[in-house]
Amino acid sequence: MFINYAHRGASAYAPENTLSAFYLGLQMRANGIETDVRRSKDGHLVLFHDDTMEKTAGIPGGVKDYTLEELRHILIYGQSGFVPDHIVTLEEFLYLFGYRALTFAVEIKERGVEEDTLNLIRKYGIADKCIFTSFDYPCLVRLRELDKEIRLGYLFEKLTAENLQAAADIRCFQVCPHVDALDREAVERLHRMGYSVRAWGIRDEEAMRRCLDAGVDGGMTINFPDKLTEALERSAEAVGSFG
Ligand code: G3P
Ligand code: CA
Repeated sequence: MFINYAHRGASAYAPENTLSAFYLGLQMRANGIETDVRRSKDGHLVLFHDDTMEKTAGIPGGVKDYTLEELRHILIYGQSGFVPDHIVTLEEFLYLFGYRALTFAVEIKERGVEEDTLNLIRKYGIADKCIFTSFDYPCLVRLRELDKEIRLGYLFEKLTAENLQAAADIRCFQVCPHVDALDREAVERLHRMGYSVRAWGIRDEEAMRRCLDAGVDGGMTINFPDKLTEALERSAEAVGSFG
């Protein structure tokens, strides 16, 4: 199924990985949300992308250097004109969004959070709505050890034989190459191998269009889900007018 994943929420606009960005993604009619899991200093699973908080919060250190209580006082900034917002825990996210008709791309950003992430998602009964992803292959190996059935998506830059063998070894459901590695021929080859294909790294509308033209079936993570919604609606209308 093709999913328009609001990447860290609608992060081209609202502060990434915050409730503002996730809700804005839904308003823009994304049918999926992508987010990143890390652990705070006192062990809580929180949604945060970068290694450090410099870029989005303007403070030193990473979320691992702050307790949840301290993180509660930190504001994350988006584009100017958007109200800064707070970091949320994975559990808060699951409570607010887990029951909705969405697909979740849950990216494991650091080793050691795999089991707690999986257990929390199981607690909310939504493992079947999630694709567990990582650039860090050992994280995916760990997830496969923990659960033989969950859907794994391997994030990588280039379509190499090594990456594809690694994906096969842990029975990935999906492969997620950078958009620049994809064209129609590559996508068809991956489909013949039995993979769902999802793209990342969509930096502008031209890349988005190329990704659509390549025929990816699993969708894409996109910071501007409004533009993808529009493009998908235009395609549907075009098909309708010929039908
Ligand atoms: O879809 C995966 C995408 O999120 C990878 O990029 O930078 O958000 O981890 P990044
Ligand atoms: Ca991510």
